[in-house]
Amino acid sequence: MKKLTVAIDGPAGAGKSSVAKVVANRLHYLYIDTGAMYRAFTWAVLSKHVDIADERAVQKLTDTLRIRLEIGRDQCRVYVDDTDVTEAIRTSDVSSHVSAVAALAVVRQKLVQLQRDMAKSGGVILDGRDIGTVVLPDADVKIFLTASVRSRAMRRYLEVQARGNSGSLEEIEASIAARDDMDSHRAIAPLKQADDAILLDNSELDLEGTADAIMKYIEAKGR
Ligand code: CDP
Ligand code: CDP
Repeated sequence: MKKLTVAIDGPAGAGKSSVAKVVANRLHYLYIDTGAMYRAFTWAVLSKHVDIADERAVQKLTDTLRIRLEIGRDQCRVYVDDTDVTEAIRTSDVSSHVSAVAALAVVRQKLVQLQRDMAKSGGVILDGRDIGTVVLPDADVKIFLTASVRSRAMRRYLEVQARGNSGSLEEIEASIAARDDMDSHRAIAPLKQADDAILLDNSELDLEGTADAIMKYIEAKGR
């Protein structure tokens, strides 16, 4: 059976990564979390105190930094050089800076190249913002996954609470709305639905229901 490439794009909290993991497990595909790569780069920018307005400093960092995903069956660990940053990239500090870092051309060039290399053998699901439009314009299946901003914020709020962290629903909603706005309006590879992507609104669907819907599209492509 042909190993397909599947692209899932959409705004923050739509369920892209959770659903991509479920589908990847069902199909024995590799799940590649491209947002984690932008988060890892942002973590390095913050921990090395690089000024993102300083083009040479950012270029130097892109030339020297090694970002690596170690993809297992149940989890994906993220490394910057030899440091495991899997948990560190999920902080609100990284979340509030990542869109500005991800808007930089040199950063995108480096990470897009890495993503294409990882995807080239097929049997992969990538989630992000520009997978169907830029990274893999020839992907076999393209999904644009979205939900109302309130339901996306509520999902993140429940996650944050489960981790024992603080943050009100209103703060989380404002933060994801701001990130979506920056991601959608940047000059390079903005968040948008590819012309040939299937639009799936899962405001009223749970994780399994969303995974089932995506599986149908994949099966229709003759997995
Ligand atoms: O999981 P969440 O929706 O919070 O975000 P993410 O997928 O971890 O992505 C974090 C940020 O990385 C996004 O808000 C974008 O600014 C950037 N990103 C991007 O520009 N292109 C991608 N393909 C993936 C993420
Ligand atoms: O990757 P993205 O930012 O699009 O979202 P995520 O991190 O996969 O999902 C955010 C949260 O929403 C997770 O806790 C999921 O379990 C939850 N979720 C949900 O409650 N219902 C869905 N249909 C999809 C995700």
